[in-house]
Amino acid sequence: MQQFFGLDIGSRNIKVVELNRARDGRPELVAFGSTETPSGAMQSDSEMDQQKVAKAIKELMKESKIKSQKVITAFPESRVFTRVIEFPPLRGEELYRALEWESDRFIPLPKDKVKVSWMVLDEGQLPEGEEAGRKMEILLVAAPLDLVNRYLGILEMAGVEPVAFESEIIGMVRSLITGSDESAVALIISLGASATDLCIVDRGTIRFTRSIGTSGDDLAKAVSRDLGFEVAQAEEYKRAYGLMEDKLGGKILAVVKPVFDVIVNEIEKAIISYQTKVPMRPVKRVVLTGGTARLPGVVVYLAESLGIEVQIGDPWVNIVIPPRFEEEVRRLENQTQFAVAGGLALKQD
Ligand SMILES: Nc1ncnc2c1ncn2[C@@H]1O[C@H](COP(=O)(O)OP(=O)(O)OP(=O)(O)O)[C@@H](O)[C@H]1O
Ligand SMILES: [Mg+2]
Repeated sequence: MQQFFGLDIGSRNIKVVELNRARDGRPELVAFGSTETPSGAMQSDSEMDQQKVAKAIKELMKESKIKSQKVITAFPESRVFTRVIEFPPLRGEELYRALEWESDRFIPLPKDKVKVSWMVLDEGQLPEGEEAGRKMEILLVAAPLDLVNRYLGILEMAGVEPVAFESEIIGMVRSLITGSDESAVALIISLGASATDLCIVDRGTIRFTRSIGTSGDDLAKAVSRDLGFEVAQAEEYKRAYGLMEDKLGGKILAVVKPVFDVIVNEIEKAIISYQTKVPMRPVKRVVLTGGTARLPGVVVYLAESLGIEVQIGDPWVNIVIPPRFEEEVRRLENQTQFAVAGGLALKQD
């Protein structure tokens, strides 16, 4: 199948997934793995840090037995500008002009400092006779050029060749949403280390995206700051007790909750905004992914706060796991962490 593998360079962990076509034509797992991102390296512009990340990628590829040298990677959602835009159905030159106008309008950076790409979500339909038309919908993605160049530099140092860049949300939607969910509206939430990414998917199509800078690391920071623990100890407490009420006399919950509620508030705003726009299509389920999806008590806490069914996203729903990987995959502590890398690998040629 692909001549490439999916690479997700997170602020805390790097993940890789490589696939092949199984006999029945379905994508099959060939290789996967994860490793820690060198501390702070993705937040830095220095070449030395880029080299450290490149080395970590190389080692991970070797350890996980990645075969391809071609890669698809994702820019962090928090660093790109992503928007679903709508206009009457347009084609050709008219479409290009409308896109240019829209990107000038919403991208807060000069034109020569960003790389803009787009994906048609719905081609739309002009009104015909009695039938009302449908707007055209396009997902516009703009990445700052300095970010693009930094990624290109890292990949070059790692000795791999990029075949495409996507955003994290596009990757995770591809791996977490199956053909059979197409009738329901799902809200996907990626709870990572430094960012929380949200997106609403209706009939398999992305309708809304948002990224906020409050996430897993802020929960540990709150435990450290408010209870006076060292960061490493605070991280352990966060992982052990999370949002559980009955643990440590509720001490951890008391400091984690106000930070987590910032995220809940943002989720509620996303739901309301979609409900206002499309009242007939309520959000029916929430899918959690990312490392912080393992926070103790998070599923129940979110389900109670939102009044919607919450589940942990399975990154392998669209992928065949061959028998030789079954045990290893089952033993993985955090499978859902592979959602972005898996979705990148699932991109069709
Ligand atoms: N058992 C656990 N309980 C709670 N949090 C956890 C657990 N295991 C990992 N985490 C948290 O998950 C985060 C790492 O997850 P992930 O690998 O998805 O992040 P990342 O992709 O590197 O980050 P980002 O996408 O935000 O740059 C860290 O904040 C870590 O504390
Ligand atoms: Mg991530």
